[in-house]
Amino acid sequence: MSIIYLCDMELKNDLLLRAAKGEFTERTPVWLMRQAGRILPEYRAVRNSLSGFIELVKTPELAAEVSIQPVDILGVDAAIIFSDILVIPEAMGLPYEMIEKKGPYFANTIQSQADVDKLRVVAGDELEYVYDAIKITKHELNGRVPLIGFTGAPWTLFCYMVEGSGSKTFSKARKMLYTEPIIAHQLLQKITTSVINYVKKQIEVGADVIQIFDSWAGILPPNQYEAFSLKYISQICDAITQVPTTVFAKGAFFSRPAIGKLNCEIVGLDWNMGIAESSRLIGDSKTLQGNLDPCALYGSFDEVKKATRIMLDQFAGYRHIANLGHGIYPDIDPEKVKCFVETVKEYSTKR
Ligand code: CP3
Repeated sequence: MSIIYLCDMELKNDLLLRAAKGEFTERTPVWLMRQAGRILPEYRAVRNSLSGFIELVKTPELAAEVSIQPVDILGVDAAIIFSDILVIPEAMGLPYEMIEKKGPYFANTIQSQADVDKLRVVAGDELEYVYDAIKITKHELNGRVPLIGFTGAPWTLFCYMVEGSGSKTFSKARKMLYTEPIIAHQLLQKITTSVINYVKKQIEVGADVIQIFDSWAGILPPNQYEAFSLKYISQICDAITQVPTTVFAKGAFFSRPAIGKLNCEIVGLDWNMGIAESSRLIGDSKTLQGNLDPCALYGSFDEVKKATRIMLDQFAGYRHIANLGHGIYPDIDPEKVKCFVETVKEYSTKR
């Protein structure tokens, strides 16, 4: 199936894109990492009509539907395409399963030079289902808000490809950096080239922003983080010239000065990172995104409002896109998420 839509429509709400460029915005734009997903009963209804998560990711019409749900239901200022970072390892030759309540599982992992050699480099055409989902989402959004495309950072994808599943320590993946650094670099380069081809294609079919998720940034020591992760993120940032890029390196507080030198427009902060300190370390040429503790949304409505306003007060004067410091937890009440979104909208309007 090949879907052809023209996506060059004017955006009615371009707050996020203006904030990314450091332009004036009448209020702070807001969206949430993992907004398209299990917190919404509407999402669960769609997913339960299928065999599971992976079928949903591979069914473009339905992936588009769940990407748009948070725009309609939560009132966020951007949609993020419903997919997963693990589509890249799969397209390179490592299929995954998503095991209910446990997370991703790879039957085959990368352990040797021969394993790396067998992997394909993604040229850009393999992930047609993602591109179709982006085209349908753009068409159905009809310019209401921008659409965020995304990828895992090479280091985070490496973690899953070597470890084979989630892990508290990712010690198998980290071991390879010490025992087989040359193989590790070859694998990271192969992933990076694949990611670059993939995000370029996402932009070609309509993504307005690209976010790079380095979820496991914080488990490396600073010198290894720069050598095995930032080196490759930097190649991706340099390759994305058409749209703003966000780097979200969870836990990499130690690398904020280096992140500030990347060729990206937006830097995501997790909730452990102080806001004024981050701005000082990253510099004022970047827009900061974040960073309310996702657990703050377990509080009462009044507590959610208060925590959100405290966060906004701290960001006052900085280029800012409001978000959480990581993805929403699945058992958060969608009404609390709406409360967060509405508090951001009211706060900024009243200023
Ligand atoms: O709303 C959105 O943000 C868009 C969709 C999205 C998903 N995964 C859908 C998903 C995005 C941006 C991701 C990114 C992702 N995937 C990351 C980076 C962001 C982060 O949270 O650090 C990572 C590390 C993954 C890998 C992954 N996918 C794991 C570890 C898991 C299982 C644990 C979990 O969070 O559920 C997934 C599954 C997954 N990806 C779900 C969703 C909605 C849950 C599947 C389901 O039960 O429906």
